[in-house]
Parts: sequence; C-alpha cells; structure tokens
Amino acid sequence: MVSCASFAIVASLMIGMSQAFFLDTNNKTNVIENLNIVAKGLMDYYQGDDYGGVVGMFHSPYYWWEAGGAWGSLIDYVYYTQNDTLKPTIMAALNHQTGDDNNYIPLNQSTTEGNDDQGFWGIAVMAAAEKNFGTPDDDKKAYLALAQGVFNTMASRWDESACGGGLRWQIFQWNSGYDYKNSVSNGCLFHIAARLARYTGNTSYSDWAEKVYDWMTDIQLLNNTPDFPDHWFVYDGIHADTGGEDVCHNMTKYQWTYNQGLFLSGCAYMYNFTGEEKWRNRTLNLLTGAEVFFNTTAWKGSWVMQEAACQRVDNCNNDQRSFKAYFARFLGLTSLMMPETSDKIRKWLVDSANAAAGSCSGGTDGVTCGLDWTLGHWDGKYGLGEQMCALEVMNNLLIHEMPPPYTADNGGTSVGNPAGGFGTKMLGTDPLKLNGGDTAGASIITALVGVSIIGAGIWLLV
Ligand SMILES: *[C@@H]1O[C@H](CO)[C@@H](O)[C@H](O)[C@H]1NC(C)=O
Ligand SMILES: *[C@@H]1O[C@H](CO)[C@@H](O)[C@H](O)[C@H]1NC(C)=O
Ligand SMILES: *[C@@H]1O[C@H](CO)[C@@H](O)[C@H](O)[C@H]1NC(C)=O
Ligand SMILES: *[C@@H]1O[C@H](CO)[C@@H](O)[C@H](O)[C@H]1NC(C)=O
Ligand SMILES: *[C@@H]1O[C@H](CO)[C@@H](O)[C@H](O)[C@H]1NC(C)=O
Ligand SMILES: *[C@@H]1O[C@H](CO)[C@@H](O)[C@H](O)[C@H]1NC(C)=O
Ligand SMILES: *[C@@H]1O[C@H](CO)[C@@H](O)[C@H](O)[C@H]1NC(C)=O
Ligand SMILES: *[C@@H]1O[C@H](CO)[C@@H](O)[C@H](O)[C@H]1NC(C)=O
Repeated sequence: MVSCASFAIVASLMIGMSQAFFLDTNNKTNVIENLNIVAKGLMDYYQGDDYGGVVGMFHSPYYWWEAGGAWGSLIDYVYYTQNDTLKPTIMAALNHQTGDDNNYIPLNQSTTEGNDDQGFWGIAVMAAAEKNFGTPDDDKKAYLALAQGVFNTMASRWDESACGGGLRWQIFQWNSGYDYKNSVSNGCLFHIAARLARYTGNTSYSDWAEKVYDWMTDIQLLNNTPDFPDHWFVYDGIHADTGGEDVCHNMTKYQWTYNQGLFLSGCAYMYNFTGEEKWRNRTLNLLTGAEVFFNTTAWKGSWVMQEAACQRVDNCNNDQRSFKAYFARFLGLTSLMMPETSDKIRKWLVDSANAAAGSCSGGTDGVTCGLDWTLGHWDGKYGLGEQMCALEVMNNLLIHEMPPPYTADNGGTSVGNPAGGFGTKMLGTDPLKLNGGDTAGASIITALVGVSIIGAGIWLLV
C-alpha cells in the first residue's frame, strides 16, 4: 500500500433498475438477496473480464493489496451463500497473481508491495484452505501451500536490526516506508501464523505467533491505557531508523479497525488452538478495546461500525475505506473461534449491517453503498471499499449457517508445502539490501518493473 495516487479510471456506476434495499438480518433468504446486490456492485470494479484487463485486478485507483482483500470477501460470500457462480473467477484470480515463487510477490507489484500487501493475499488463500474452497490443478498453488509460502517469506524478513525485532512495512529497501515498522504487517504475520497453527497442528507456527505478539506488546504498539485497563488497542506503527534519540519510540498513534481485527481474531485462533487462558484474556481485552470503533449515539442502543480515525473527519483514503470489511470478517472469525464472544459480536454485526443497508441507496442504480453508516442514507461516497465493507458485514450474519473453518484433522483437504515460497526469483527472500552485488539485481528489477508498468499503461491507453 502506498499513498501516492496512480492515474485513475473512475469506475462507472451501473445503470440499472432501482431496487429497494430491505434487510431482515434474521432471514437468510433475504440476507442472500441483499448480498447478491452488493456483490454485483463490487464486481463492477473488476477489470479481469474486460478487454485488456488483468486477471485478479480491480480498476484503478485500487492497489493490488485491496484486490487480495476483495477476493477474501468474495470467498466468504460464495461460501456462506453456497452459490458457486463466482467461484471460477475467484480461483482464477488467486491463481494468476501468485508470482513465480508462489508467495504473492509478483515481479510487477514490487514497486509498491509491502509485507501487509502480501499478507492480505495470504489471508485470502488461508480462508480458501479453511473452507475447502477448491483444488487448484497445480499442487504448488494449493491454498494451504500458498498460505505457507506467504508465511515463510514474511517470517524470513523478521528484522532484529532495529527495535528488537518486528517486520518492516516494506519488503524492498527502495520503497518509502522501509524505515517504518507497522502493526498491519506484523498483524498479518501473527494472524496467518495463528491460523496455520490451528489448521496444521504444527507448533512452529504458534511459536511464531507468540513471538510476534510479544514483540508487539514489548514495543507497546499493542497496549492499554491506565484509565481503561481492559481496553486493549493497537497503534499504527513505529519509526525504526529515523528520529534520533526517539528511534523506536516515535509512534504513529492512529487506531484502525483492521489492525484491531487482525490481532483480535489471531488471539481467538490461538485460544482455540491452545486452550490457554492467556489467549482468552487477550481476545476479550482486544474485543473490549474494539468498542471504540462503534458509534452508539447515532441510533439509540445500536452499535454502528465506523472507521473512527478518518471517517468523522471525512478524510478516509481508498485503502482505509475498505478496512471495515476486514474488521467485520475478523469479528466473525473471532465469534467462531471463541463462541463465548458470539452474542456480543452478533449484536455489533446486526446493528452495523442494518445501518450499512441504510447507506446502500446511492448511485444511479439506487443500491450503491456508502462509507458512513450512521446516517440512515447514502453519503455520496462509493467505491470498491464501500462495497466490500457492506458485503462483509452482511455476510458475517451467516457464519453459523456453515461449518466453521476446517483443519487438516477435521475435513480440510488443501495440500500443503511447509517449505514453500522460496524460489529462484530472489524476490521472496530476505529484504534486498541496495549495496554490493544486490544493486545490480535491484536495478534490473526496477528496470523490468518500469517496462511492465509502461507496457500496462500503453495497453490501457490502447
Ligand atoms: C424471507 O425473505 C424472503 C426473500 O426476501 C421472503 O420471500 C420471505 O417471505 C421472508 N420470510 C419471512 C419469514 O419473512
Ligand atoms: C448467485 O451468485 C450470482 C453472482 O453473484 C448472482 O448473480 C445470483 O443471483 C446468485 N444466485 C442466487 C440463487 O442467489
Ligand atoms: C512445521 O512448520 C515448520 C515451519 O514452517 C516447518 O519447517 C516444518 O517442516 C513443519 N513440520 C511439519 C511436520 O510439517
Ligand atoms: C516522528 O515521526 C513523524 C512522522 O510520523 C515525523 O514527522 C517526526 O519528525 C518524527 N519525530 C522525530 C523526533 O523524529
Ligand atoms: C485472565 O484474566 C483473569 C481476570 O482478569 C485473571 O484473574 C487471570 O489471572 C488472567 N489469566 C492470565 C493467564 O493472564
Ligand atoms: C455518531 O454518528 C452521528 C451521526 O452521524 C454523529 O453526529 C456523531 O458525531 C457520531 N459520533 C462519533 C463519536 O463519531
Ligand atoms: C474452537 O472452535 C470450534 C469451532 O467453532 C468451537 O466449536 C470450539 O468450541 C472452539 N474451542 C474453544 C476452546 O473455544
Ligand atoms: C503482472 O504480471 C502478470 C504475470 O505474472 C501479468 O499477467 C499481468 O498482466 C501483469 N500485471 C500488470 C498490471 O502489468
């Protein structure tokens, strides 16, 4: 994820018949009808079916990482509605974007790809494995193997050179943000490790989850305040190479829903896997801390999800507009992994889904979803992120309709590759240092990437 804008193609809103959007959260048939409408709006942004479009990618201005997020949302949609219409499209996307080493570091994304970007594709294939989503022809691209490839390469970048550990935001030294260690990158590693531990039963993964979690609390990116000791929260990140005496203390103190969700659900997976009280406590405290992401005044007695750090000041960027989607997904997983949380989470999801439905009344189709769910009507915002958030919050109303995430022991069939992800293209391994022998390699990559971007640009213009 980067913050500079690439050239934008404004996705056109579908022109269609105006439909009334009525959600009855207790009626599965009705929820599915609404999900179909929201999913259609989401797929309007997909470019893979267009002439000259790339399989797995959405139209600009959406970065590659968000596509990984969107396929994760659609995997849930297909699973919980038991409607396989989009399955071939999703499988093709997951297959096409793996990169040469089957670790979701395709060469032509390396100008922007960070650990977090890779992580969100890893989370999508992890979910595909847990849901027996399908069996790719090539075992190297089986969903468990891909998730392990992502995990292995991310873990290999664990960096003790600053702040006592942690992942940097960026994979590549030439990308800005390399000097920043952020919670979402570490959260993805933690979260995937916890899920792999539960799926495979291999404690190497849970050891990694412990290690990441401990680093997060040592450095105080995951913390509480003395005033609210049981409200645990996650800050954005910490500057690792700059800041003079402040190095590794200069923290960016934004709280985002997706960071809370990554750690919350990762802890719930760890509790489910280990049965240890400490993971139960951590889950409960992160759940209490998550209350900050709900607006309880807009509708009396209702808990309406909002991206607190940017929504109220109306400056959420394209990335941030999708965060509530992952948060809803991670809340659903938490309630499955730790059933004692499910009443509280169900209330949050029902209230938020009702509020989201109220916002899905925009655009020329009359069913385009907005960003702010507190209003009771469309707020004029639209995009891939808005559709994803509405889809996931409604989707997670159906989590008890299907078996919870499988493991290798109880029906999960995805083929693994514990050593996967490393290959000949050198992009998957340790962060490249731009000195000595690597400089030549790095400039070759930069040149190749440049050529492919120019190629893509010309293609789009044609
Ligand atoms: C559930 O929703 C479906 C589709 O909207 C509708 O036909 C049906 O009557 C609803 N059932 C109940 C019990 O409300
Ligand atoms: C199945 O999914 C497709 C694609 O989202 C949708 O167009 C269709 O209406 C769905 N079918 C049913 C029966 O819900
Ligand atoms: C457990 O996971 C570790 C770390 O990926 C791997 O090296 C090891 O081979 C795995 N063990 C088994 C039995 O799969
Ligand atoms: C802390 O980081 C911010 C960027 O988030 C930067 O503007 C500021 O100068 C840094 N503070 C120090 C003391 O380096
Ligand atoms: C879990 O929390 C309870 C209640 O606050 C506390 O009594 C207990 O010691 C905690 N357990 C662990 C392992 O931290
Ligand atoms: C909750 O939503 C209402 C309605 O949009 C708004 O006026 C209020 O400021 C919001 N509260 C918070 C804490 O964001
Ligand atoms: C682990 O998850 C399963 C599936 O949802 C659930 O049945 C079980 O109760 C959970 N275990 C614990 C210890 O919460
Ligand atoms: C990136 O590379 C893949 C092949 O791995 C290619 O299919 C795709 O078109 C490229 N994407 C862009 C945006 O250039």
